[in-house]
Amino acid sequence: MTQLHNRQLYLHQRPVGVPTEEDIRMRTVLVPDLQEGEVLIENHYLSLDPAIRDWMSDNDSYLEPIPLGGCIRSTTLGKVLKSNHSAFSEGDYVQGLAVNGWEELTVNHGDLLTQVPNDGNYSPRNYLSIFSGAMGLTPYFGLLELGQPVEGDTVLMSAAAGAVGSIAGQIAKIKGCRVVGLTGNAEKASWLTDTLGFDAAINYKTCDNLADEIARVCPERVDIFYDNVGGDMLDAALLNLNDHARVVFCGAISTYNSSGSVPGPYNYWQILARSATVKGLLTTNYVDRFDDAIAEIKTWLEQGKLIFNEDIVEGLENTVEAYSRLFSGANKGKLLVKLAAADC
Ligand SMILES: NC(=O)c1ccc[n+]([C@@H]2O[C@H](COP(=O)([O-])OP(=O)(O)OC[C@H]3O[C@@H](n4cnc5c(N)ncnc54)[C@H](OP(=O)(O)O)[C@@H]3O)[C@@H](O)[C@H]2O)c1
Repeated sequence: MTQLHNRQLYLHQRPVGVPTEEDIRMRTVLVPDLQEGEVLIENHYLSLDPAIRDWMSDNDSYLEPIPLGGCIRSTTLGKVLKSNHSAFSEGDYVQGLAVNGWEELTVNHGDLLTQVPNDGNYSPRNYLSIFSGAMGLTPYFGLLELGQPVEGDTVLMSAAAGAVGSIAGQIAKIKGCRVVGLTGNAEKASWLTDTLGFDAAINYKTCDNLADEIARVCPERVDIFYDNVGGDMLDAALLNLNDHARVVFCGAISTYNSSGSVPGPYNYWQILARSATVKGLLTTNYVDRFDDAIAEIKTWLEQGKLIFNEDIVEGLENTVEAYSRLFSGANKGKLLVKLAAADC
């Protein structure tokens, strides 16, 4: 068989601030011969996740940093072109959880690779959005396991119109909570209340004092703060916690492009003053419960209780520009890149 060529995006230098095409460059490489136990995947969609920014830095985190010169690590959805692995066959749609890359072709060793259904009910692509850790499963476990919502609770959601926040807020509504979303533009604020059923939305970019605005919109204070952003927003939320509030520490996107140490939270004392708990979320801790969670998410979708938005940009060559949208707030829902091979 003639050797295949693979276009891929690799880490040329560690970014300072939002990654640019100076930091992440394109190259074409030859695909190595497939060894026993390996699977050759034709990628159809790339998942653009804030966490990838952390992996681009030389930080001590839950995954090794992407090495300089290495392909940008990512979760992808693709099709098996060739398999030397007993669990996968040619033509299977597969999702590789944080083990594939921003490239057209990936050789995977079968680790964290899952076959996804193509049964006509849902597109295989949905296994990179609503049925993935990057969208549906993170808020499912974050809100239900760590947030422990009780009917009547007030839930405050940061990055509320994003992949995780838009679903976490709707799950909180399903559980009978009052839900308030924080977002950075008027159109997304209207989407939260008018389409997704949030009770209120705050545009944090136009209000004078965020802590005061949260106090005004949440007069009974906040029982669950689902934190996707960290930084000043976390500090404003901490000032509004109810007694025995739960803070779900899902992410801190406001800090991902910072160099050096990140200050705060300055209002840490409020955790003691309100007998609050803060719990960190790592969705991969729940891998053995993913199937049950997906089944329940499907039920909510079919009952019309849950809506999700896929924000799709086309072309591997547009990936770096698309990635910056996560940090400017230009995305709504789950940000994906569609590659030329995509057929779903
Ligand atoms: N713990 C886990 O296992 C896990 C798994 C998946 C994701 N996460 C985390 O969940 C969070 C959301 O991820 P996502 O994929 O759903 O992204 P997303 O919410 O779809 O996109 C990011 C959003 O964050 C907001 N944002 C960006 N920079 C900001 C800043 N400086 N200040 C305030 N808001 C800012 C923007 O919306 P607006 O400014 O319009 O609000 C932007 O649209 C991230 O922190 C991510 O790391 C954690």
